[in-house]
Amino acid sequence: MPMTGELSPIDKAKFVAAKRAVEFVESGMRVGLGTGSTAAWMVRCLGERVRDEGLNILGVATSTRTADLAREMGIEVISLDEAKWLDITIDGADEFDRDLNLIKGGGGALLQEKIVATASDRMVVITDVSKQVETLGAFPLPIEVIPFGWQTTKALVEETLVSLDVLGQEVTLRMNGEAPYVTDEGNRILDLHLHRIGNARQLSLVINQIPGVVENGLFIDICDAVVIGFGNGKVEVRDVSAGTVEQELVEFAETDNIFTDLTD
Ligand code: A5P
Repeated sequence: MPMTGELSPIDKAKFVAAKRAVEFVESGMRVGLGTGSTAAWMVRCLGERVRDEGLNILGVATSTRTADLAREMGIEVISLDEAKWLDITIDGADEFDRDLNLIKGGGGALLQEKIVATASDRMVVITDVSKQVETLGAFPLPIEVIPFGWQTTKALVEETLVSLDVLGQEVTLRMNGEAPYVTDEGNRILDLHLHRIGNARQLSLVINQIPGVVENGLFIDICDAVVIGFGNGKVEVRDVSAGTVEQELVEFAETDNIFTDLTD
């Protein structure tokens, strides 16, 4: 099993961001658990605190794969309906801008991620610095659509994009090998290759008006803080609500158990 010395700089960046972000979690909290490779580090870090410190939390997962990992790490997982409201959600992102607006859904879990993040007092994004952009849109924007009539929905999305402030208009169905990718809710994902999104708020509202579109991967005014990890172990915590930026070095032991229980 890899130790930290064998982690790539990008994995180390994701790990230290996750390690710092779980310090926001306190006993008694209901915690939204994001999806993706960075969020998986966060679930491991939280599991470590549950095991080592007796941290008492309830987790609400944003995907079946996160729920499985959380249980494996010893975190009690409940449904959002059981939790009703969450203290904090920690999740990754595919892109973030200076206002902490995001593109999410590269891992296909945008719908549950958006519902869970919106149901939280605070959303903290964990990321490496490569995902910071001046303008959102280089990463293809995922939208979740229901399977019924998805080709008609796709055509309507394409038609709508013509009148919006975007650079590209190509729309592709996300695949999983030879078959369409299927979300946890049984839906499909369309990836919108926009290259540059001039007005993310408008795009988000207009796209969600199209019948068949369930949700899009733009997270506008949802994220409160971002923890950016670097390959040298440093992190920067930007809190848009508090208007603060702090930098620090995350300490961890090379022999940490967290590096011996990697499953994915
Ligand atoms: C999952 O649907 C996404 O929103 C992820 O949060 C996003 O793709 C980031 O994933 P990584 O941490 O693996 O880059």
